[in-house]
Amino acid sequence: MKFFIDTADLDDIRDLAATGMVDGVTTNPSLVAKTGRSFLEVVEEIAGIVDGPVSAECVATDFETMLKEGEKLAAIADNIAVKVPLTVDGLKTCKALSDKGVMVNVTLCFSAAQALLAAKAGAAFISPFVGRLDDVGQDGMELIADICQIYAQYDFDTEVLVASVRGPQHVVMAAKLGADVATVPPKVLRQLYGHPLTDKGLDAFLADWKKTGQTIL
Ligand code: E4P
Repeated sequence: MKFFIDTADLDDIRDLAATGMVDGVTTNPSLVAKTGRSFLEVVEEIAGIVDGPVSAECVATDFETMLKEGEKLAAIADNIAVKVPLTVDGLKTCKALSDKGVMVNVTLCFSAAQALLAAKAGAAFISPFVGRLDDVGQDGMELIADICQIYAQYDFDTEVLVASVRGPQHVVMAAKLGADVATVPPKVLRQLYGHPLTDKGLDAFLADWKKTGQTIL
């Protein structure tokens, strides 16, 4: 399973990329707005830090303008995945860009029917938002299970990119379902490392080691 980090914060991206756990980055207009910086510059910098796909989102809503935006974003670096919303115009843009060999991430997916359309439009990634579905009383993980089943049945190449992840449990459930990617906020990626028994066990080992008076180096 691949881990992408869901942020436009360059410090977090550099810090976490150094762990070797980051296979890509996803951004969205809200995350870019938080940085207060130029979108195009931020995306270019991220694409230079991480080798894997870096999602950069179009903000136009009509096909013609979205396509132009997508082409401009794709030209920034080879590892850019153009993000488009799951709308009619978004999927038209997805098809046009995918036909030219551009990676497209279709975002704001909330149903299996939408995911089916995105795969037919040639999306490299489909981003179902599990946390936002949970927030409105639906089961986000049930959607992941449905999409994984449908994609496997038809052998679609589109990767299931679990988005709007709120905690380690979402990551574990996504992995159990065989999702290809989870995009996680930096905080959640750091949380994946933690367990109180790891800390407790390490403290005990180090206390016993100290008693031996030895060093390894
Ligand atoms: C995915 O690409 C989105 O950027 C993201 O996962 C949205 O998450 P949120 O619901 O926490 O805003």
